Amino acid sequence: MGSKPVKVAIIGLGGRGKDAYADCAFRYPDKMKIVAIADPIKEKRDYVAERHHIPEEMCFETAEDLFAREKLADVVFICTQDRMHYGHAMAALKKGYHLLLEKPISPIAQECAEIEKTAKEYRRHVQVGHVLRFTPFYQAIKRTIDSGRIGEVVTIQAIENVQYWHQAHSFVRGNWSKKDASSSMILQKCCHDMDILLWLVGKRGKYVSSYGGLYYFRPEKAPEGAALRCMDGCKVKDRCPYDAERFYLTDGIMKGYDGWPIIILSVHPTVENIRQALLTGDYGKCVFHAGNDVVDHQVVNVELEDGVTINFTMSAFTSRSGRTLKVMGTLGDIEADMDNATLRIGCFGKEPEIIDVNKLADDFSGHGGGDFRLVEELLDDIIEDREPGSGLTSIDKSMESHYLAMAAEESRLNHGMSIDMDEWIAKLRA
Ligand SMILES: NC(=O)c1ccc[n+]([C@@H]2O[C@H](COP(=O)([O-])OP(=O)(O)OC[C@H]3O[C@@H](n4cnc5c(N)ncnc54)[C@H](O)[C@@H]3O)[C@@H](O)[C@H]2O)c1
Repeated sequence: MGSKPVKVAIIGLGGRGKDAYADCAFRYPDKMKIVAIADPIKEKRDYVAERHHIPEEMCFETAEDLFAREKLADVVFICTQDRMHYGHAMAALKKGYHLLLEKPISPIAQECAEIEKTAKEYRRHVQVGHVLRFTPFYQAIKRTIDSGRIGEVVTIQAIENVQYWHQAHSFVRGNWSKKDASSSMILQKCCHDMDILLWLVGKRGKYVSSYGGLYYFRPEKAPEGAALRCMDGCKVKDRCPYDAERFYLTDGIMKGYDGWPIIILSVHPTVENIRQALLTGDYGKCVFHAGNDVVDHQVVNVELEDGVTINFTMSAFTSRSGRTLKVMGTLGDIEADMDNATLRIGCFGKEPEIIDVNKLADDFSGHGGGDFRLVEELLDDIIEDREPGSGLTSIDKSMESHYLAMAAEESRLNHGMSIDMDEWIAKLRA
């Protein structure tokens, strides 16, 4: 290809930086080279430094230390926690870096707008981690809609099946369990859905309303005999689907499984360190006594331009994970199930066509194949010096999903009050 690999710095070496993105350097050795990393946890730095041959002087304890140095790379992958994104993104942009910025851009609308403005001023690429646009699954749905086979889209019904244990891991016991420390659930988990649904239809949201709350994971729902921690003499653990000891330990690491989410409890999981983590850390807490406050179910209704509608549900209470949706058009419908990797295209008066999404590509690792494809687009954007904003996703394309999710949260807190998106955005800009 002739050009040099893009130099990448990664800040935040957790589930995203270390596990999802760093190894893209092995997948695209001609396009990507990790030259610097930052994370306060030495074990994580050592792990990535060793795998990618990063010299010690380029391994920083914090993003702040890295940004204090001259510009070290072409692009920074910002994989720190939600509330750090703004500070890290602004520092990186002002230093002249392009960005892969994990979603959400920021939990605060004004900060999102400021990052967008600064990216434009400095003419930098800011690829927001909306990986779903890059999945063969959603691309097949988008192609079908754009082909006109089902006519004009009139309404979409979509469900994000969070799955009971994923809710418990991330949103009850884990990093995103408290809104003030992270984000609202509808922004944190479902900005992906807002983004993908708007993209599929290709129209703007005009009005939004939402209901939902924290129904189940609260102290008053704890069964009699529940202890504060699963391994602290809980009397109901045998019948509790959320028993952390069974999930992480006896059915997890003790059976040789050491992938996600067990790897979140320890960089190098062993039976002993996972047991310790459960005895003392957040992941061993009873789901009814974890001190969480984000919702476990929420519905969002959106009216788009031309009166097209979207009805979206996020629920913790599902046995399987993944997204399902039904796109209803004037000439037919699409029923799609990401977990089953199938699309059923039913054109009115014709035999339905079933598409097996597994046959459309050969690699579905990392968010249905979205993670590495998103990285590749950003690398190509930089290598080919494309105009920022010209790719499949970019910060300007991601703003609308964030605003919609934030307005939905405001509506939910006001018992479903309908919010006019134009007025909401105008107020933000005033
Ligand atoms: N695109 C997606 O589908 C997707 C999926 C999961 C998470 N995310 C987002 O990615 C981000 C990271 O999530 P994660 O699961 O990797 O979280 P994580 O907690 O596993 O990783 C964050 C890392 O940042 C490190 N850190 C803390 N302070 C730092 C500092 N000052 N400088 C450098 N590093 C610092 C922490 O030690 C930790 O290792 C979050 O904003 C999350 O919402 C996106």
